[in-house]
Order: sequence, then C-alpha cells, then structure tokens
Amino acid sequence: MKTTPTRAFPYSAALAAGALLLTACGSSGAGGSGQAAGAGAFEGRGPITYVAGKDTTGAVQPMLDRWNKLHPKEKVTFIQLPTDPDAQRQQMIQNAETKSDAYTVLSLDVVWTSEFAAHRWIDKLPEKRFPLDRMLKPVVATAKYRDGLYAVPASSDGGMLYYRTDLLKQAGISQPPATWAELKSACAKVRKLPEAEDMSCYAGQFQKYEGLTVNFAEAVNSAGGTVTDANGKPDVDTPEARKGLDFLVGSVKDGTVPKEGITYLEEDGRQAFQSGKLVFLRNWPYVYSLAGKSGIKGKYAVAPLPGLNGPGSSSLGGHNLALSSYAGNKATALDFMKFFSNEENAATFLKDASLAPPYASLYDDKALIEQYPYLPVLKESILRAVPRPRVVQYGDVTSAVQGEAYAALTGSKSSAQALKDLQADLRKSTGQ
Ligand code: GLC
Repeated sequence: MKTTPTRAFPYSAALAAGALLLTACGSSGAGGSGQAAGAGAFEGRGPITYVAGKDTTGAVQPMLDRWNKLHPKEKVTFIQLPTDPDAQRQQMIQNAETKSDAYTVLSLDVVWTSEFAAHRWIDKLPEKRFPLDRMLKPVVATAKYRDGLYAVPASSDGGMLYYRTDLLKQAGISQPPATWAELKSACAKVRKLPEAEDMSCYAGQFQKYEGLTVNFAEAVNSAGGTVTDANGKPDVDTPEARKGLDFLVGSVKDGTVPKEGITYLEEDGRQAFQSGKLVFLRNWPYVYSLAGKSGIKGKYAVAPLPGLNGPGSSSLGGHNLALSSYAGNKATALDFMKFFSNEENAATFLKDASLAPPYASLYDDKALIEQYPYLPVLKESILRAVPRPRVVQYGDVTSAVQGEAYAALTGSKSSAQALKDLQADLRKSTGQ
C-alpha cells in the first residue's frame, strides 16, 4: 500500500523525492527542538490501549494487570494484532491514516521507526524521561529518527542457533557448528542415529514476510556481503551476497530445510523444533523459555548463528514503544511507557519469557547468567547484529527483499537474477 504523509512537515519535499535513506550518523533538520508533533503536549489522563502483535509468551497481560491495579482510573487495554509483522504494520498505518484514537501505545518493530516518525504517525518523545544511558547503544539507535527519540526500547532481539545438545553429543560432536558447512556435516552425522533418521536439519523463517527479510539479510551479512552499504546505498548484487543467498537456496533444494520450511514463521519453526522434527533452528530468544516447557526440556542450547567462514551475524530485531499521534490521554501513555520499559519489568520479561532486555547490566548479572545461560550468546548476537535498512520507505524495501528472496527460494528465479533485480528495486525505492 502506498502511503502519504498526513501532516505537513519540513522535509516533505525530501520525502517526495524519495531520498530519505538515513545514515548511521543521521543529520539535523527534523529532530531539533521545533514543532515536532506532540513534543511537550502530553496531556490527558484516563484509559489507554496497548497495541502489539499476538503475545505468544503470555507475559504481557500480567504486566498490564500490574499497571491496572496501580492505576484503576487509567487502565490499559491490550489490543492484539496478528502474529505476522507485515499485518501489524498495515493495521497500525491504517489506524494512523484514519487519525483514529483507538490505538495509544504501539509496540513498533524496530524497523518501522523512520517510517512512522517521518509521517508523524508517532510523537517525538522527551528523551530525559527514559533511562536510555543504561541501555545497549545499538538498541537505543533503533528508536531514533534524525537524532530525535520517537520510541522507547522495550525488548531487543538477536537471532541465535538452537541445537539439540543430546543428539550432537550422541553423534560424537563436541561443539555446535560455527559455519554452514559444519552445520550440514553435523546434521548428516546426527541423522545416522536411529532416533534421528526422520528428522530434518535446519529451519529459519522462510515464508514471504518480514522474517524472510531478516533471514535473507543474515545470510548475506554472514557471507561477508551487505544489503545496503555504510552510507545506506543498496549494494546487494555482489558475489558475497550471492554466496549468502545460495546457502539458503541450496539448503531448501538439498533438503537441509524440510519441504514445509518454506512456509514457516517463527512459531512454526518453534513447534517443529519442540516436537523433535529439527536438529537446528534459527530463532529469537523467546523460544528459549517456551522450549523449556516442551518435550525437549534440557535437551537444547543456543550458539551464535553460523556463517560462511565462521560465526555469522544476526539482523537486529526488537520492539519499541511509540505513542500514536492521534491518541488521547497522552500523560497516562507516557507514564505507562516508562513503567512498561523500566529495568524491573525488563528483568521480569527476561525471567518469564526469555525476552532480550534493552538494559546492559542484566546481561552481566552473574546470578541471571547462571539461571539463563543463553544470555552471553544473546548479548553477543545483539551487539554484533546488523540493522536492517533504516529508511522511511521500509515497506517498499522489505517487500522487494521478500519478493526476490522468495522467488530464489522457490526456484522461480536464479540467485544471480534475484539479486540483480533486488538491487534495481532497492535503488528505485530508496532513490539511491
Ligand atoms: C521479531 C523481531 C523483529 C522482526 C520479526 C520478524 O519479532 O523482534 O524485529 O522484524 O521478528 O519476523
């Protein structure tokens, strides 16, 4: 869906020119003091809503209940959107385009900040109200647009390789694989075990949706390529990117990925891993806690994502809280955002649902590490993670990536052609 800005703002000309690809250093302009939507005007107290994708962890409502108990006149109601992030984005955009006040606090995927901020669908936030200096730097960067803060980190996300410790041990493998070749050979050994002969090797998120953009970018980055270069310019038609995409395409073709793997979102892969169908799974930290309540309890661990010649790198994921420009009761909303994202609640989300906290100190807490041994791998994954393109036209960018990667995975295009076409699409949609 093509969207247009709903309010006048100083750089609308640049938006029209399609030249809003942001660089890491950012620039001044929109972010300054100025008349950013909503800045300073956080008024009104009363009921609000919290809008997020379906909660698969079960940890959100108890958190909201705690807030509601403390604030009986300012209750928050949970509006759950579909699990698919693309559908969440569409519904949030629709809410903004109709200027509806139905949504108050939005759980924004980290990749949507620029788009929502540039269109003034979300308010610029007062930075001093939030303890950003205690949070991991790359995580805070995902909440900024042109040097202004437009969201507050609630949870980060880094991809990890889940593997079956029991089966690797039985097959005589002492270390989880660090490269794609090691993953394939480890899997071949495991499948020689009588109890593993019907298992598949590996799955990630290969359905045509945001998860595929994540997995594609990870494969490209983990082979030494990039989707966009350091200046934000598309640079995906390269031999390195080709090696990354070829790993995914080859794995689907040679059966490393099960046939149905091409339809998997996060939850499908988790179910397959938990029910003993997979030796390896690429997924986010939330799986750690849920798998511990399944039949593979005590039989899995995590390692860094493998790559072409050594450990690979994850795409940086996560969710930030943003305030819809069209909402009422903004004073309540800001207090709620502060509450939801505070360190104590981040620790609770970590303990109850193995979500990745934005706070640096929680990763170095010895007692926590003992109880949640995946924390060092997760911290490393987040710190080494590569952000997806930070662009206002993110919808166009991700849909181009999804289209071309899926065409290659399903064999309707060669990897070489898909990357060539993707480079052209990205140049068009970013104006670079
Ligand atoms: C997770 C990540 C998010 C990503 C999505 C893809 O929710 O936190 O950043 O876009 O998965 O499916």
